Amino acid sequence: MLGPVILAASRSDKMRRFVSAAPGTKQVVARFIAGETVNDVVPIVQDLAARGLEVTLDVVGEDITTVEQSYAARDAYLELIGRLKELGLGARAEMSVKLSMFGQSLDPEGPGSGHELALANVRPVVAAAAEIGTTVTLDAEDHTTLDSMFAIHEELRKDFPQTGCVIQAYLFRTEEDARRLAANGSRVRIVKGAYKEPAEVAIQDKPEIDKAYVRIMKILMEGEGYPMIGSHDPRLIAVGQELARRAGRKLDEYEFQMLFGIRSEEQNRLAAEGHRMRVYTAYGTDWYGYFMRRLAEKPANLLFFVRSILTK
Ligand code: FDA
Repeated sequence: MLGPVILAASRSDKMRRFVSAAPGTKQVVARFIAGETVNDVVPIVQDLAARGLEVTLDVVGEDITTVEQSYAARDAYLELIGRLKELGLGARAEMSVKLSMFGQSLDPEGPGSGHELALANVRPVVAAAAEIGTTVTLDAEDHTTLDSMFAIHEELRKDFPQTGCVIQAYLFRTEEDARRLAANGSRVRIVKGAYKEPAEVAIQDKPEIDKAYVRIMKILMEGEGYPMIGSHDPRLIAVGQELARRAGRKLDEYEFQMLFGIRSEEQNRLAAEGHRMRVYTAYGTDWYGYFMRRLAEKPANLLFFVRSILTK
């Protein structure tokens, strides 16, 4: 019940100011956000790599309001890629980006121009990633952004076929998207979906979302692409392993992904079993939206957060 309320709050500026200023917030945020700067995140990537884990790095931010902010987002990723190159971590770390942070919804030169702006901003990031032997995955945001995201994904794949994208099991459209992406050989991360979506476009019932997730994993495993199973749900992970086996996929022909700070033991276990296990590691100062979605996913996180505010 609390999830939708927290998700609504994740888009409120008033709540953003309240949560950001509350005593105790920093301590809870640190559980999910790996730091504020590239320098904070580098030792974490090195530690994850030493534990046999792969990484996808997210510079947090979304729903920007100026074109300058979209350039700043591009530059933050370019800086990150420069550091990964210096440290020789290119093979271990890919990047995840939210196109809303690259200007997708700004439309500075009329309707639809935000799409072009986001494409122009993300292309050099994808090119720089390719130069150091890694790639970029386009995160899935709310359903109104997805046609643009898939079009950008298709465009980028013409020059950089390894570019990945994310699909969300809760949306009615996703099985069809999965079939198209599985047939054209894409890298695809499947997740349950983290936004507040209306009943016209998304399944609302959790067990039904899990069933859709299984159907979509099957499509991806049986297809031509590279499936990335993004979930902490032990049942779905077990089903994913079985579907991969039945589809005759080797251990390097799919991977599991989880978020930094969540189920670390399970991350280590899967890696120790020989699975490719990638940890989605978010850092940066604009953590509010990302943090609120993590609270919405698990009510216990909210309780912990409220307690830490009250005891400060
Ligand atoms: P579920 O929510 O059922 O959780 C299963 C178990 O995992 C829980 O019982 C709990 O133990 C643990 N758990 C899950 N979330 C937790 C949390 N926040 N805190 C503590 N424990 C938690 N969404 C989206 O819309 N677009 C995107 O691009 C992405 N990208 C993405 C990348 C990766 C690598 C992951 C793992 C997830 C995403 N997501 C996402 C988020 C996704 O849609 C979903 O909201 C979360 O993964 C939670 O769903 P689970 O599949 O983990 O199952």
